[in-house]
Amino acid sequence: MTERFVTETLNKKETDFDISLRPSLFADFVGQGKVKERLELFVAAAKGRNDVMDHVLLSGPPGLGKTTLAFILAEAMGVNIKVTSGPVIDKPGDLAGLLTNLQRGDVLFIDEIHRLQKAVEEYLYSAMEDFVIDIVIDQGPHARSVRLNLPKFTLIGATTRSGLLTAPLRSRFGLNNRLDYYEAADLQQIIERSARILNVDVEKAGSWEIASRARGTPRIANNLLRWVRDYAQVRADNRITKDVADKALSMLDIDEHGLDEMDKRILETILHKFAGGPVGVSSLAVSVGEETGTIEEVYEPYLIQQGYLKRTPQGRVATDRCYEKFGLKPGGKSQRELF
Ligand SMILES: Nc1ncnc2c1ncn2[C@@H]1O[C@H](COP(=O)(O)OP(=O)(O)O)[C@@H](O)[C@H]1O
Ligand SMILES: [Mg+2]
Repeated sequence: MTERFVTETLNKKETDFDISLRPSLFADFVGQGKVKERLELFVAAAKGRNDVMDHVLLSGPPGLGKTTLAFILAEAMGVNIKVTSGPVIDKPGDLAGLLTNLQRGDVLFIDEIHRLQKAVEEYLYSAMEDFVIDIVIDQGPHARSVRLNLPKFTLIGATTRSGLLTAPLRSRFGLNNRLDYYEAADLQQIIERSARILNVDVEKAGSWEIASRARGTPRIANNLLRWVRDYAQVRADNRITKDVADKALSMLDIDEHGLDEMDKRILETILHKFAGGPVGVSSLAVSVGEETGTIEEVYEPYLIQQGYLKRTPQGRVATDRCYEKFGLKPGGKSQRELF
């Protein structure tokens, strides 16, 4: 139920809630110090030269702030932003339509840019590099190619899978930034900011409890805050204490380390069904009933970062930390069996 709660909220069209909590200035964007510093410098340099900002690639797991940063960049540059996503652009004509409608300096934000069709991607090369696009009009013997000049624009691409980006596309970005999972202290700041905006009463120990169980992800932190607020309203006196947060999150089956049901299912499957691994990601996906891509993009990166899982050429392997978490001795015997 937990992962469904989280992913449904992830996939839903942006709600007013998301929009009101999304920071629009660098100053309100918490954490990701290095990336933020680089981007701020990039903006300052472009503005100082009165130039258009070069293309920017943002990568990292869902919910870490890629879309937020794209909007912050456009705002900081004082330009318009047009938003689209890789799978939505069906044919080169759609891309041409988007590009020819831009004004000088505008940002075109392409989310999930690793899912662009090959034919569309090839058109993007000349658009990004030389700000021209060659479109073919008519068909058969009358077909001819017409070159359109484009205004100088900034492409911001976001991807959860930078490894799937082709080399020619990747090389056309002036700046390539990878977002990492947030420290609990940063998430606590985000939760406290959101609580102020939503007018929610939260104690320090309460925001810390939510922060340390939010999988290092601001979007999850905000979703959990909303859930705990509802819980506090119905089961407590509207105040989020450590105890209230703990009870509310336990109701979602989120454990003290922030692992949800699917995280635990993945780890237990490796331990029990595959004797600790190695197991290929597609067999793992079938066993837990989830898409391979979702395992790779959403679940696995966090489990690896937290040291429960290792990726080896032979497949995924459970670490000692993983065995310990489930009360097992590395090697597969449970402690209960040993004593
Ligand atoms: N650094 C941050 N500081 C404050 N809030 C953030 C930050 N990063 C993300 N958020 C919040 O998390 C939500 C999800 O971020 P988003 O940019 O949509 O993630 P992504 O595009 O990487 O999936 C945003 O609506 C915003 O409220
Ligand atoms: Mg996004």
